[in-house]
Amino acid sequence: MRTVSALALSSAFLLALAVLSPLPAKSQDVPGARYNAAQRLEFPANYREWIFLSAGRGMTYGPAADPNGPPQFDNVFVHPAAYRHFTKTGRWPEQSIFILEIRKAQSEGSINKGGQFQTDVTAVEVLVKDSKRFADTKGWGFFEFGTNRQPAAKLPPTASCYDCHAKNAAVEHTFVQFYPTLLPVATAHKTMKASAAH
Ligand code: HEC
Repeated sequence: MRTVSALALSSAFLLALAVLSPLPAKSQDVPGARYNAAQRLEFPANYREWIFLSAGRGMTYGPAADPNGPPQFDNVFVHPAAYRHFTKTGRWPEQSIFILEIRKAQSEGSINKGGQFQTDVTAVEVLVKDSKRFADTKGWGFFEFGTNRQPAAKLPPTASCYDCHAKNAAVEHTFVQFYPTLLPVATAHKTMKASAAH
């Protein structure tokens, strides 16, 4: 009898330990931004496995917008750890990293009869929140990757990105007003800038 209850007790203890002890870091808990020795951002090769925020079609504000060419698509992704933090708080944690992937649009192909679908990547734009590393640009760094995907230096403070994002983005430097799953979170947590409410 005694052995049985001791056994039950110790297995209950082990179970409690397993439940309470912090799990080993999952790969998605690791910061998505990695830098080489020259402090250049490595291309975040697995960003397609991150959380998808939205797709814009033919949005014309942007760095790679070509008013004369056919409208392009853009896809926005955020690192899973940052996304989880945002859903709880309506704010971005340090090391948050965002991707704006721009792709060509095509209408004729295979069985398609109307509308458009996405094809080749034309640019990958990146935004990272890191107060220490980017202290000279208010804690946010912008990057641009060409098709060669070589490590990229932070764009200088004079780049147009900083000004437009600081002035027009709804939450911190990010355009949450265009991300349908995040907008209600920011609204509930009252973290939207008053100027961005619509
Ligand atoms: C004139 C305004 C403007 C400029 C200039 C601009 N952006 Fe943006 N950016 C936007 C808007 C609007 C979105 C929302 C995109 C969407 O909904 O598809 C965005 C989204 C992004 C995102 C996704 C995360 C976020 O902040 O919401 C990244 C990354 C990004 N831009 C990088 C850049 C980089 C790098 C530059 C400079 C080379 C740049 N942007 C210049 C307006 C701008």
